[in-house]
Amino acid sequence: MEKFVIRGGKPLMGEVTISGAKNAAVAILPATILAGGKCVLENLPSISDVGACLDILSAMGAQVRTINKHTVEIDTTHITKTMVPDEMSRQMRASYYFIGALLGRFGKATVSMPGGCNLGPRPIDQHLKAFAAFGAKDSVDNGMIDVQASELHGEEVFFDTVSVGATINAMLAAVMAKGTTILENVAKEPHIVDVANFLNTMGADVRGAGTDVIKIRGVEKMHGCTYSIIPDQIEAGSYMVAAAVTGGNVLVKNVIPKHLEPITSKMEKAGVTIEEFDDAVRVTRQGDLEALNIKTMPHPGFPTDMQPLMTVMLALANGTSIVTEGIWENRFRYVDELSRMGVNIQVAGRVAVIEGVQELLPAPMRATDLRAGAAMVMAALAANGVSEIREIDHIERGYEDIVEKLKGLGADIKRIEKPEGAVLKQAH
Ligand code: EPU
Repeated sequence: MEKFVIRGGKPLMGEVTISGAKNAAVAILPATILAGGKCVLENLPSISDVGACLDILSAMGAQVRTINKHTVEIDTTHITKTMVPDEMSRQMRASYYFIGALLGRFGKATVSMPGGCNLGPRPIDQHLKAFAAFGAKDSVDNGMIDVQASELHGEEVFFDTVSVGATINAMLAAVMAKGTTILENVAKEPHIVDVANFLNTMGADVRGAGTDVIKIRGVEKMHGCTYSIIPDQIEAGSYMVAAAVTGGNVLVKNVIPKHLEPITSKMEKAGVTIEEFDDAVRVTRQGDLEALNIKTMPHPGFPTDMQPLMTVMLALANGTSIVTEGIWENRFRYVDELSRMGVNIQVAGRVAVIEGVQELLPAPMRATDLRAGAAMVMAALAANGVSEIREIDHIERGYEDIVEKLKGLGADIKRIEKPEGAVLKQAH
């Protein structure tokens, strides 16, 4: 029962360095299976989701050697297993990338079905549609999904929904398939491009990542490589929000400003000043925050993973904002927790109507998921007084050293290992 204890009300000042992108890392790690050789991955974020991926790779027979906190060498030469142990794949929702990678290399994979998550249902029909187009058959038995192909062949696939996971999984399965694959209506997030670049560095022939159509010419063999993962756009956006809600002045370093544009443009509209440098942005807020409307959409639209963080920012803005969730069916659950802080937010389905308040009140909360948890941390930093956030394992899945990074900006935040005294009774 670890928790964060945060005494808020202080503007954050200073510099923070952004880690490697979680959603690139959790795809690139399984993709090392395709190398059948040694890969050195740099700029890996030190987060529990990466730990879970490395544990799975080791359990499958890969040799994993930690070079330093952010660099790992993975030798997948001797992997023979094609089944990911159930309890391991359940630790991480993105374990479905092991299906594409194992299928691509061995023509078969057995992985547990990704459960529904706290953002709403999480189907993988589009992943399976691509695998089937390449010649694979799937079946589900006892909660495990089994995908097999005697031979994978390239094919044209038009996705019915723009899906990050299906786009990446299709790329993983197609890189060594016979012939040419054309993927249409694909996701265009920066981490899609990063995974494609990684695959190409391992010898694949993937073109068009970052556009609506990806073309893959199957290659016979791939090989190991050294690759550095892009910075995390959402972690960067989270610290940008931290600066904005506390009226601070923060230099957010090790970012690709172009990846932040959908976030930057909305924050500027809300009255935040953002200065761009080659690989950093300075975020300052002096005047009031102003209300605005946001709809989350696939890249280059406003990212859904920033939605809870922006909602917290707009909860402090002058006037009425409307935030519409365009990706997930149920991504406003955290608003109930946030209401403990005195926010004025009405949610109807996928729409939240936010009446800005003058200040947030400190409160005990529990993190309902990764980004909502981060949003609660930022809200607590803005509130005068002491807030507590429980169930922080959600946050630590995706934010490296969040306590140390915030402390470095002058925040008063502590991680308590085992809370003493009375346990808060909260409805789950
Ligand atoms: N969808 C389908 N069928 C599919 C796949 C997706 O209907 O086969 C639907 C989903 O239900 C959803 C939409 O398509 O409504 C988009 O889902 P997508 O597949 O793009 O999401 P994902 O790949 O499962 C990744 C990130 C999420 C992020 C979304 C959207 C990873 C590990 N996760 O999920 O990140 O919200 O893309 O950008 O990359 C997070 O980091 O906090 C997080 C939840």
